[in-house]
Amino acid sequence: MTQRRLFVTTALPYANGNFHIGHIMEYIQADIWVRYQRMKGEEVHFVCADDAHGAPIMIAAEKAGITPQAFVANIAAGRKPYLDGFNIAFDNWHSTDGPENHELAQGIYRSLRDAGFIATKTIEQFFDPEKNMFLPDRFIKGDCPKCGAKDQYGDSCESCGAVYAPTDLKNPYSALSGATPVMKSSEHYFFKLSDPRCVAFLEAWTHADGHLQPEVLNKIKEWFAKSEDGTGGLSDWDISRDAPYFGIEIPDAPGKYFYVWLDAPIGYLASLKNHFGKIGKDFDAFMADPATEQHHFIGKDITYFHTLFWPAMLHFSGRKTPNAVHVHGFLTVSGEKMSKSRGTGLDPLKYLKLGMNPDWLRYYIAAKLNGRNEDVDFNAEDFMARVNSDLVGKFVNIASRTAGFINKRFAGELGTVGAEDQALLEQLKTALTPVTAMYESLDYARALREIMTQTDRVNEYVAHHKPWELAKQPDANERLQAVCTTSIEAFRLLSIALKPVMPALTAGIEAFLQVRPFVFSDLSTILGAGHTIGGYQHLMQRVDATQLDALFEAAEPTVPETTAIATPGGEALAPTITIDDFAKIDLRIACIVNCEPVEGSTKLLRLTLDVGEAQTRNVFSGIASAYQPSDLIGKYTLMVANLAPRKMKFGVSEGMVLAGSHADEKANPGIYILQPWPGAKPGMRVR
Ligand code: MSP
Ligand code: ZN
Repeated sequence: MTQRRLFVTTALPYANGNFHIGHIMEYIQADIWVRYQRMKGEEVHFVCADDAHGAPIMIAAEKAGITPQAFVANIAAGRKPYLDGFNIAFDNWHSTDGPENHELAQGIYRSLRDAGFIATKTIEQFFDPEKNMFLPDRFIKGDCPKCGAKDQYGDSCESCGAVYAPTDLKNPYSALSGATPVMKSSEHYFFKLSDPRCVAFLEAWTHADGHLQPEVLNKIKEWFAKSEDGTGGLSDWDISRDAPYFGIEIPDAPGKYFYVWLDAPIGYLASLKNHFGKIGKDFDAFMADPATEQHHFIGKDITYFHTLFWPAMLHFSGRKTPNAVHVHGFLTVSGEKMSKSRGTGLDPLKYLKLGMNPDWLRYYIAAKLNGRNEDVDFNAEDFMARVNSDLVGKFVNIASRTAGFINKRFAGELGTVGAEDQALLEQLKTALTPVTAMYESLDYARALREIMTQTDRVNEYVAHHKPWELAKQPDANERLQAVCTTSIEAFRLLSIALKPVMPALTAGIEAFLQVRPFVFSDLSTILGAGHTIGGYQHLMQRVDATQLDALFEAAEPTVPETTAIATPGGEALAPTITIDDFAKIDLRIACIVNCEPVEGSTKLLRLTLDVGEAQTRNVFSGIASAYQPSDLIGKYTLMVANLAPRKMKFGVSEGMVLAGSHADEKANPGIYILQPWPGAKPGMRVR
């Protein structure tokens, strides 16, 4: 059989936040497939990249006070612990802002243009009159034009999957300012998806064998469908955005940039090209080779981009099209959907920091993935039960019950498998061989069920032959060695089949068995008499309920995505509050009628405040380092007027005045008391 040459990707995550557990699920799904292919001896290039461009990232960077490049670099720097931690074996991690992508995107665009697939049209577009810029799709919200779902983004509906133009939204508003957007015209570039050549190509491509799962194809048929009045069907795709925009410039179109979704999938090619540059391989030759297979793993929310725009862009720019787009469902945690950018209570890094085994999660997720695009739920109890019973109770148990005898009684040497034991190994080989096809079709759930059924068989064998009893019988030495050898051989066969799912566990098993890394063809072999195994150390701990409790313990307050890494003034924003929360704080304009030092304190000043009440208030404030009492007398400021009085060493403080300072006062000294604009009167409420 000739070796397959595979180019495999996962979706390129937006570089506006850290990974959440949904991303990790996608990487685990793809990584298992890649490891399976590698174990078969195929040539695999598995790459990913950060999806760097687009207005949301530009806006987030602006808020954080850094360039978009620096913003994206910060996010990229945080990727490794997740990928290494869960043993995701990407060959390369790149960025869509890399030079390869600029060049490829502009090249592909030129080819499309020269082939007549680009049109320009002046369109009216939403413009935020307060922010003074065209509103990016993601910053216009409103009701979905197809299904009516509320608060949908301007490019696609998360409820029904429809893709549309922001102007199609009902009741639009700007997510940047809340303002109702106004229409303003500008020239835009379009990819002619509705061109009959394109429609014909996509009809054929989407229906071709192996390209798509049946349930995905069904969804696409809806997108193709035209109503009787001729409306519906595929519409042209707006691929340009006006400056200011963080993206790739459109050739010969000053001030125009590619919409992020045009250059994002091209980032797959860019990352591969970057990788090949590092390993000295010819990118163009590889991509021109008809034998090269291109596989994309994505979530169901981005199907439209990958099954229509992307194959069409590739085809009409004279490039190879994907061999398959594998679409998975969404991961929920305890039945709850996670926000696309913020994730859930299950923080993957926290999981690792708690010392939880990455293979537990890989096993659990794999056991729930069947190759269809159904959603998958992470449930803590179910997780613990599965891992503890399948992996520790059944699988690892085989070795822990038999390896000790081989080590202690036979100096680690395997014996001969008895004629009556051959049947077990033969049965395992027969049952495990088709498991490879289940990996191929992404039906990991079925593969693991089959492997666990066989694990049960082996445990039955051990229970039936009771090596611990044989060990007590004076004349059963040979039999003891045969039974334990058979068990270890069986354990090895099961391990080979499990390896794509659990690379860390199986690496430990390879070391224990003293064998070279397993490949699938090892399923047809046995170690054989005379092979020496290493000392057995426990291969896997049980999941402890306290770990799960700790994992789901309320995390630090979450901050909105756009400020995920922003720490203005040295600290992240506090959790969002409602207007009702804010209304509980009674802020008033106060006049500082007197101010004096506090004897015995270097920090405090004693303020006497007029807040428009019958009596003045006494307030202590830690601003002695910044102000002389005489600086403040007669000045106006703001105070929290309904703060519970607090008894201090020097007297009772009846409120608090407001001042700004950096979180790290040592490194960034300075404290600045607030002052209202002229005209404010003591007692006025601040709201
Ligand atoms: N940047 C785009 C993809 C561009 S690909 C050329 C994007 N990024 S994303 O960060 O929002 O999502 C990355 C991948 O994670 C997508 O495949 C998406 O479907 C997947 N997931 C996002 N949330 C998920 C779950 N809750 N569960 C499983 N996968 C999830 O879209
Ligand atoms: Zn909808």
